[in-house]
Amino acid sequence: MKKNIAVIFGSMSSEHEISCLSAYNIIKHLDKEKYNVDTIGIDKKGMFFKYTGDIENIGKNKWILDEKNKIKIEDIIAKLKTYDVVFPVLHGKYGEDGTLQGMLEFAKVKYVGCNNLGSSIAINKILSKELVESLGILVVPYKTLKINEYLKMDIKLKQKLIEEIKNKIKFPLIIKPNKEGSSYGVSKVDNVDNLIEKIEYVFRFDEEIIIEKYISNRHEVECAVLEMLDGTLLSSIPGEVISANEFYDFNAKYENKSSYTKIPAQCSKEVLEKIKKYSLKIFKKLRLTSLSRVDFFVSHDKIYFNEVNTFPGFTNISMYPMLISYDGIGYEKLLDILIQNAK
Ligand SMILES: Nc1ncnc2c1ncn2[C@@H]1O[C@H](COP(=O)(O)OP(=O)(O)O)[C@@H](O)[C@H]1O
Ligand SMILES: [Mg+2]
Repeated sequence: MKKNIAVIFGSMSSEHEISCLSAYNIIKHLDKEKYNVDTIGIDKKGMFFKYTGDIENIGKNKWILDEKNKIKIEDIIAKLKTYDVVFPVLHGKYGEDGTLQGMLEFAKVKYVGCNNLGSSIAINKILSKELVESLGILVVPYKTLKINEYLKMDIKLKQKLIEEIKNKIKFPLIIKPNKEGSSYGVSKVDNVDNLIEKIEYVFRFDEEIIIEKYISNRHEVECAVLEMLDGTLLSSIPGEVISANEFYDFNAKYENKSSYTKIPAQCSKEVLEKIKKYSLKIFKKLRLTSLSRVDFFVSHDKIYFNEVNTFPGFTNISMYPMLISYDGIGYEKLLDILIQNAK
């Protein structure tokens, strides 16, 4: 019997457009002999629509303008309960962060991907770092700052903050929002002159920020973890992204064609083996389920954990499906495993 699947895309995240692109690729690769596929888009205000138009419009981000092929869903929980499996293809806030997963768990709807708890932990870069540090795995030296604490600081306290950053983290440094993705808000700061300006800029993206040491000579290494049907975990050969820009910002990730990937990553065999092992440990510690991409920086053979993505990019040039296929599991097979993993 064919399974009825609903692929969900879009949502209120800054990664709305990337989600549409990932969804387009996933819909294209889902075996139509095995699955009846419905497509459900979430607009940037959080409204759900059943979309019945050409899937090309999803990839090109034009589905929202295709008025005659989109029908507003009034009771989304009732609608989702009509499917065998819901497949959220969502990145970042309101999709990869546990909120939608919580709603699906409450509604007792089977869904693809990491569960509510793991998603909520992994979207939080600070909490993830704290848990990973407890495993004895290195993270880049960092300091966290909350907007309400910052707003209460007088000039003296701000000066103290600057001194602390200067002495403990040292320039250059990078400031990033705690719970964003796709490099939104990530800012490099070379010296003290524009530190305060940059701190205030990054607070526009999140109420909590991370100020951390910028690692200049680094390999950006990523490892795919997949829960197999027998419950064992596969950790892939790690791959590497070579950024067109000084760091892997939005332009380097999605627009600049000079960025590329290398599989395996250009690190020693020993480092690659360690990353595979660390990724499994991190997957378990952060209570992740089904799939995740675990990202590291490698510099002078030191391995620093950076972050986890519980629903990494799934476009045809995205690292996660490429890493898994390097291990012999093609895109279609990967989707079958993810759907069978749905709980
Ligand atoms: N400590 C750091 N040193 C050097 N580059 C960094 C550092 N932290 C982040 N970056 C750069 O910024 C990019 C985005 O940061 P990341 O923490 O991965 O957030 P996002 O969730 O937005 O991908 C990284 O891929 C890397 O290029
Ligand atoms: Mg990243």
